[in-house]
Amino acid sequence: MRKFLAYFLTFWALAVVAVVGVAGLRGSTSRKPPLEFFSDMDHQPKLRPQTTAKFAGFADGMSSRLPVPGTVARGSAFEASEFNTGKKADGSFVDAMPVPVNAALVARGRERFAIYCAPCHGAAGDGNGVTTKFGMAAVAKFHDERIIKMGDGEIYNTIANGKNLMLPYGDKLDPQDRWAVVAYVRALQLSRLGKKEEIPDAVRATLK
Ligand code: HEC
Repeated sequence: MRKFLAYFLTFWALAVVAVVGVAGLRGSTSRKPPLEFFSDMDHQPKLRPQTTAKFAGFADGMSSRLPVPGTVARGSAFEASEFNTGKKADGSFVDAMPVPVNAALVARGRERFAIYCAPCHGAAGDGNGVTTKFGMAAVAKFHDERIIKMGDGEIYNTIANGKNLMLPYGDKLDPQDRWAVVAYVRALQLSRLGKKEEIPDAVRATLK
């Protein structure tokens, strides 16, 4: 009986040492590196981004390339700006575009419009572009009163994000170009909103 007790206590003591040795210090932190028996892939040659590289970096000594010019940080003021979203802080569309309208902007808008909008909406915005001959149905007419009265921001938003059947064009037109196209859409609308009295007398006399 005594012999059994001695064996039992010895075994118990060894078991306690083993359990504490393996699991006892779990969770305690240490600044010393852990013992590594199989280091697996813990250690790999690497370069930290945007630092100088002593080896294998780029020719100018940098460890990585800088972001392309014009890169916008997430959460930046630009991201939420009226210029970028076409919306005010309260989420409603802006009435007037936040960029100065001049001849250069309208000319740029005309060029982009011819490439990206005219195939469906038609060169004059009548909703009769070439695609309508191939089954593209219900293309909006820019001369509808609803779209004339629409805020600039809502048209901008349709270009950036699409609407119903129309796919977005935000990947093809950057914010400045979207506003340029909005300016040109406005020019197309204005071209039919003129009054007879606005025609210079000399020209009006020649009209039939
Ligand atoms: C592939 C054909 C297609 C192209 C290209 C296209 N649109 Fe559209 N667009 C449509 C269709 C279809 C609708 C009608 C969407 C609906 O209400 O279902 C529409 C609707 C609109 C509307 C009215 C949205 C509303 O609030 O009712 C505007 C504004 C507009 N497009 C502007 C543009 C501009 C600007 C471009 C060029 C950047 C463009 N679209 C390019 C097919 C096109």
